[in-house]
Amino acid sequence: MYSGEAALFASKITENAELRPLEPWQAAEFLAHVDKARANIEPYIPWAEVVVDEEKARDFLERYAKRQAADEGRIYGIWLDGELVGGLLFRTFEAAWGSCEIGVWLSAEAEGHGLITRAAQQLVDWAIGTRGMTRVEWRCVPANTRSVAVAQRLGMTLEGTLRQAFPYRGELHDVQVWSILSDEWPHRAWA
Ligand SMILES: CC(C)(COP(=O)(O)OP(=O)(O)OC[C@H]1O[C@@H](n2cnc3c(N)ncnc32)[C@H](O)[C@@H]1OP(=O)(O)O)[C@@H](O)C(=O)NCCC(=O)NCCS
Repeated sequence: MYSGEAALFASKITENAELRPLEPWQAAEFLAHVDKARANIEPYIPWAEVVVDEEKARDFLERYAKRQAADEGRIYGIWLDGELVGGLLFRTFEAAWGSCEIGVWLSAEAEGHGLITRAAQQLVDWAIGTRGMTRVEWRCVPANTRSVAVAQRLGMTLEGTLRQAFPYRGELHDVQVWSILSDEWPHRAWA
């Protein structure tokens, strides 16, 4: 992989970072990234425990490709200086209800530069501005302070906490539900 690699569809996040679709043909690159990011993301992201070889990586990306075809989900990667360092997904996408949920991850060395906040702003702009969503959700465990901080930077409101709603690694975790509504969203790229 070299940094000058041409990407057909890419959206600039910063001078040296791009948001691009993440597709099944990129399974090997995705696996290499997950292997590198695993220690950082596994405590919070169940699929990081599943994506352990190229077949599982392709299965995961194919699931999202099928969900995208059905307009029920999407996945995007973030490339920093030509290296895949993280991504975002529409974990749910309910066009008929006007509601969706965004999930995110980064490898540890890519944290702290605002990549996710800026990329998530682009996803919310698209969901609200282009797709007419009225509500974009963000869910995280209360102890995930970096994730909470992103929700806050996006201007989301904490609506409540689902108690013991997330069984993971032998424990029952609470889940915070954050959201922003279309009439609260200031990044009106479509206006
Ligand atoms: C959640 C996660 C993606 C957040 O990553 P992050 O790097 O903290 O978030 P951002 O990319 O938005 O960067 C914000 C940081 O960059 C800084 N920053 C610099 N320029 C910035 C800009 N233009 N805009 C926003 N923040 C900026 C912020 O001050 C903040 O730094 P700080 O942590 O020192 O306060 C990451 O911690 C992660 O992958 N965690 C494990 C997986 C996970 O928990 N996923 C979410 C499950 S709910």
